Amino acid sequence: MVVKILMIIHHIQQIGVNKLLSKIPVDLKNVSEDDIDKEILRAGIIAELDAVNLYEQMAALTKNENVREVLLDIAKEEKTHVGEFQALLLRFDAQQKEELEAGAEEVEEELSK
Ligand SMILES: [Fe+2]
Repeated sequence: MVVKILMIIHHIQQIGVNKLLSKIPVDLKNVSEDDIDKEILRAGIIAELDAVNLYEQMAALTKNENVREVLLDIAKEEKTHVGEFQALLLRFDAQQKEELEAGAEEVEEELSK
């Protein structure tokens, strides 16, 4: 678990939080010890979703097929990273797990009208 968290922090640092399109909404230095892992994981999800948007936007911009192919492959990998952070977050945050399911059900209900 500790190794995984360190990997996550390393990854966030690699991405460079200041370069993200959206801002991480909290200063992680001011988060209580009880909440730090959840907040790190949420920040990780934000960073990965930003990366997906960035790579897909760049893929749409390039005229080079090889560049586009690699960017879209990397965008796909970032979606896996979203899933990794989310899977771990759901272990820490039972309410998020419930509400994620509630949200999916609400969409199903809404679209089946
Ligand atoms: Fe990633």
